[in-house]
Amino acid sequence: MRVIESISELRAAMRGHDRRGFVPTMGNLHDGHIDLTRIARREVGPDGLVIMSIFVNRLQFGPREDFDRYPRTFEQDCDKCRAAGVDIVFAPPESELYPVPQGYMVEPPAIQHELDGAVRPGHFRGVATVVLKLFNIVQPSVAVFGKKDYQQCRVLDGMVQQLNLGIKMVFGETVRAQDGLALSSRNGYLSEAERAEAPALYRELVSVAAFVREAPNADFRVLERDAETRLRQRGWLPDYVAIRRRQDLAVAQPGDQGLVVLAAARLGSTRLIDNLEVTG
Ligand code: PAF
Repeated sequence: MRVIESISELRAAMRGHDRRGFVPTMGNLHDGHIDLTRIARREVGPDGLVIMSIFVNRLQFGPREDFDRYPRTFEQDCDKCRAAGVDIVFAPPESELYPVPQGYMVEPPAIQHELDGAVRPGHFRGVATVVLKLFNIVQPSVAVFGKKDYQQCRVLDGMVQQLNLGIKMVFGETVRAQDGLALSSRNGYLSEAERAEAPALYRELVSVAAFVREAPNADFRVLERDAETRLRQRGWLPDYVAIRRRQDLAVAQPGDQGLVVLAAARLGSTRLIDNLEVTG
């Protein structure tokens, strides 16, 4: 496995390899990320290249968010990538990716201002911009993202389609701890007591999804508000519990098919997000 910091060196290393599976990350890797590298390998085959980028992208963090304290565990990340059969870790310094202040930005459509975007203004613009830059550098045939960031998947999929990038987008299922908590780099911020409470968010999604399945004509807004109230009663500060259409994240109406329940809530100083597709 090669660890590469410069764009020119990366381009040289990739020359002659047309099948490129790309997994963009911000590091602090867990089993969810490793699962994405397996998907990438499956997509490109044994002779293809699996490339992971590790870059904590300042552009997608708000001024009062956790950019500075975001966990940086580069050596351990490289060990995990090596063990998982990644071919190249691309870990550019900020000066390589943003040699001048980024003036050209990717402006996603209105969905960028809803759900997480309503609480994190500019977040999806920052994500889309860095991912387009990385796509231009890596020129992957396949890119793999985790469904844990459901809205990010929708925004980036739309970008690839509408900007005709010709990249196959693959979305990996959320990997969970045994008690249901979705694996996330931010779980490391939780105290012991908060970690014990954290799976309640997933349990809430499970119960809302079950209700939607059983009563597809129920008033979804009432279900959302009730779930938020239950979380509040347990000491959470919910940003939203939302029942949306999977395809475009439009607000779901009674009788709609193909739905997903999304939630974001603060537990102490940690903001957790999760989602569950309504199946069956
Ligand atoms: O999902 C993430 O880790 C980031 O948002 C991404 C896609 C690597 C862009 O910085």
